[in-house]
Amino acid sequence: MSFYVTTPIYYVNAAPHLGHAYTTIAADVMARHHRQLGEDVFFLTGTDEHGEPVALAAEALGVTPRELADKNAERFKALAPLLDATNDFFIRTSDPEHGRAVQEVLTRVKDNGFVELGMYEGWYCPRCADFKSEGEIVDGNRCPIHLIELDWEQEENYFFKLSALQERLERHYAEHPDFVAPGSRYNEALSFIRGGLQDVSLTRGKLTWGVPVPWDEGHVFYVWFDALLNYYTALTYARPGEDLTEEFWPASYHLIGKDILKFHAVFWPALLMAAGLPLPEHLYVHGYLLMDGHKMSKSLGNVLDPFEIIDKYGSDALRFYLLRDVSFGQDGSVSAADFEKRYESELANDFGNLASRTIKMVLRYRDGAVPQVELDPVLAPDFDGLCERVGDLMGRAELTPALEEIWQRVRRLNRYVEENAPWKLAKEEGREADLDRVLASLTEGLRTVTVLLHAYIPQRAEVLLDALGAPDLTIANARFGAAVPTQVQDLDPLFPKQPAAEVA
Ligand code: MSP
Repeated sequence: MSFYVTTPIYYVNAAPHLGHAYTTIAADVMARHHRQLGEDVFFLTGTDEHGEPVALAAEALGVTPRELADKNAERFKALAPLLDATNDFFIRTSDPEHGRAVQEVLTRVKDNGFVELGMYEGWYCPRCADFKSEGEIVDGNRCPIHLIELDWEQEENYFFKLSALQERLERHYAEHPDFVAPGSRYNEALSFIRGGLQDVSLTRGKLTWGVPVPWDEGHVFYVWFDALLNYYTALTYARPGEDLTEEFWPASYHLIGKDILKFHAVFWPALLMAAGLPLPEHLYVHGYLLMDGHKMSKSLGNVLDPFEIIDKYGSDALRFYLLRDVSFGQDGSVSAADFEKRYESELANDFGNLASRTIKMVLRYRDGAVPQVELDPVLAPDFDGLCERVGDLMGRAELTPALEEIWQRVRRLNRYVEENAPWKLAKEEGREADLDRVLASLTEGLRTVTVLLHAYIPQRAEVLLDALGAPDLTIANARFGAAVPTQVQDLDPLFPKQPAAEVA
């Protein structure tokens, strides 16, 4: 079975921030989970380098668009491994192979009768690289997102005949109720479509920083069509000499932020229909990370720096925090103080302490040998169906509820320690068998949750599973009782407490 997951490709007009890290982390959690299921996974991320947003930023800095793109693409590329993201390829839309594939697909769209020449007139936001309808603009002529004054643009463009695809899009939505999730985003996209689709500019005449239109040299492709196609073109050249589209197209999941819904849920499927290509199976739309009530964005200057957090606490802590504290699919506030609270109470205490205590007790009372006895029938039912439920949720990109399912078991194991007080059993005559059962059940419970947590906190999960002598990550093995460890080894604290002063 194959699984193909993508992030949006990030604009290189500024350096990466936590909002970008967020989607990459979420996609990585899904990619890792599907690898644990034994599937063939392809995980793509990259940078969106053409168009006005980049050209304008470069102009302001007095460098060429390519210089700015080269510099910032490197920073995005470097972010992925820091987040422990296991992307299989990093696409840059300035790659010549991408450009050629864009030309090829869009020529097909034209040959199929979906392109015509026309005059564009309207409000345009150079920062969004998006044309705004009268209904969208605010305060007279301002961009609803950037709040900057919009330009009134008028130019001859080739148009993509989006209007011709309205019915087919509506039908696709009707036949695929899980095409877009969460449901509220499905409804939003569908009502946009039902509201009536206008043709959209496919090319720009005034720009030069883009993929040239092969049938008219005075034009480049409008950056959004060039960018959207990355999900497809990457597969044509990621592995030299191989065409991965056969195995991985259509994509299983495109993860996107809610600000780019229209492009992905309307323009993108329409473009694929016009090109005669299969549509992606699912789009999952996440919300915004907010700071002080505003969308975190470089242009608003309110960013929490992912590099700093990783430096201090490690990538696992950041990955966990973002998917735990902000419900994936909704907006949520983030702050250094909330991060610190989660780290202390859940990673250091709930999980880190559970791991240390369990291992220390097996070492102290049984010399590290996990008793091979029947597991506690009181605990076992609490793990029934867990693996399936987590798998089902993660398979639907419901990453926060999946994590909550796992965490309920982490808490259950902590209660189990308190209920059974192994340190008391160790002192009581004739309770050896009880202590054996408790230690074995606890170690096996810890192993089970850790296999499931691996996708979220891969580094620490691996360290812990090694200490448990149970490195197998297969999801089928994440069943309570499937692979009781035999011998444990000592372990340093997984999530060491940070001195309070460092936190502020
Ligand atoms: N280049 C386009 C995407 C093209 S995809 C074919 C773009 N780039 S972006 O860099 O501006 O944003 C990329 C993604 O990062 C978007 O999905 C966006 O929602 C996400 N985020 C940027 N800031 C964010 C937050 N503050 N919170 C959550 N995600 C955010 O759009």
